[in-house]
Amino acid sequence: MYVCITNICTRLQASYTHKTAHIQSSSLFTMHPFLVYGASIVVPFATLWLLSLLGFSLLKWYPPKEKPLPPGSMGWPYIGETFRLYTENPNSFFSNRQKRYGDIFKTYILGCPCVMISSPEAAKVVLVSQAHLFKPAYPQSKEKIIGPKAIFFHQGNYHFRLKKLIQASFLPSAIKGSISEIEQIVLNLLPSWEDCTINTLHEMKKFAFDVAMVAVFGDAREIEVEGIKKLYKCLGKGYNSMPLDIPGTPFYKAMKARKMLNETLTKLIERRRESGTHGGGLLGVFLESSSASNKAHDDHTFSDCQIADNIIGVIFAAHDTTASLLTWIIKYLHDDDDLLDAVTREQEGILGRRILQGTCSLTWDDTRNMPLTSRVIQETLRLASILSFTFREAVQDVEFEGYFIPKGWKVLPLFRSIHHRANFFPQPEKFNPSRFEMPPRPNSYMPFGNGVHSCPGSELAKLEILVVLHHLTTSFRWEIVGEEDGIQYGPFPVPKHGLPIRVIPRNKKMITNPI
Ligand code: HEM
Repeated sequence: MYVCITNICTRLQASYTHKTAHIQSSSLFTMHPFLVYGASIVVPFATLWLLSLLGFSLLKWYPPKEKPLPPGSMGWPYIGETFRLYTENPNSFFSNRQKRYGDIFKTYILGCPCVMISSPEAAKVVLVSQAHLFKPAYPQSKEKIIGPKAIFFHQGNYHFRLKKLIQASFLPSAIKGSISEIEQIVLNLLPSWEDCTINTLHEMKKFAFDVAMVAVFGDAREIEVEGIKKLYKCLGKGYNSMPLDIPGTPFYKAMKARKMLNETLTKLIERRRESGTHGGGLLGVFLESSSASNKAHDDHTFSDCQIADNIIGVIFAAHDTTASLLTWIIKYLHDDDDLLDAVTREQEGILGRRILQGTCSLTWDDTRNMPLTSRVIQETLRLASILSFTFREAVQDVEFEGYFIPKGWKVLPLFRSIHHRANFFPQPEKFNPSRFEMPPRPNSYMPFGNGVHSCPGSELAKLEILVVLHHLTTSFRWEIVGEEDGIQYGPFPVPKHGLPIRVIPRNKKMITNPI
């Protein structure tokens, strides 16, 4: 969510992806209802308003110093280049401008003046070395749904305290112990796929959601957890909808679910406190840090509301991302028989060792012994770049790489563009895990972001993916059902229709479904 967090982000991320992209322009208008509703009545007023806005904007954007604004076109007043973005192939929208203006260029999209960045060095300045000058920027509706105290929306000391705690909960040393629970989730899910046609994305979402629930609540089956799962589904539907808080709309329902989620979480927190045990998962870590014995350290204390917003935020961040990545991995492995065979051999090696040693479950060491499968994950993170970019906003006027960026402008490091540069990744459109036999050039590869806001869940995401791939490749084969190409956004870019596949046990012959 992070980022993928926003509708704006979502649409932009979505649009800035893959050649076969399908653009649903209606979603664009949901961002700016003014553009579609009651146009005839408001046109005269709108014209005046646009003119005054233009005058104001020109004044506002005129660089006061000797440094120029970045090159690029701001398009039409207010509308900027939004229509171009949605009528051109989004890939060429960015690459044409990059070719014409260079790695840093300005544009105006969805009501915001933006600076796009596709050089690793400049992205590092925004995300790492001068990160204090660029704050995360998300629409208010997203803050309302996730909760304004969630880590994504903050800078400075509060963010630092949260990050320390969340990061520590997802370090390899902390997640090692959850491998058997993750494996159990996989083993419960896989039999339901056997000899069936499944929607890969939906199934992977179920899986990643269950892992996220274990990560935040531990393995205890508390009664509130089932309720939380149901409310979460409602929240998810409203997240990418138009932010209209009117009865009947998905957003309204999501806001209602959000309120109930808060109440349920508060009850769970109270019950854990009363029982004298903080319980497992990230919630346990939060309760421990805010416990009476730690209260003396102000730095450790978080209110129930802060805890609830961050628990909800982490679940958001953890599951759609991982599920989308897994869906791409299934597609890329399906498309390359030799690679699938090589990954299967690697996983059978692990299975063989387990049988010899008489260990029934996967161990942490097993997962550290899967170099090819790990490279498949790395290459999928690069090629699919499910988080195509992130959003920041200049907190003050900034002089940046020889340019002037006015306060309030959005600044977008384009991860995908960097990941697809031929000088860092030769033949960038080719899926080639062997390119990761050598470490990538510093700052040229950042699927989990970079700097203060980088992803604390990267190790958990990789671990759960390795566990699924171990069982899937050693036991099953799969065939894509229906149209093979195309992309949809849900909200991350994923293969069309969520990649329906037919899964059969490896010892059975695959019969291609004609649909
Ligand atoms: C394949 C899966 C994932 C990908 C590609 C991914 C990617 C990212 C990226 C690029 C960011 C940085 C956003 C920015 O700079 O604005 C981020 C932040 C974050 N991610 Fe992930 N993520 C994944 C899985 C997870 C998981 C499993 C968790 C939780 C266990 C998680 C929790 C977070 C949190 C809490 C943040 C915000 C950090 C902050 O603001 O300091 N992510 N993620």
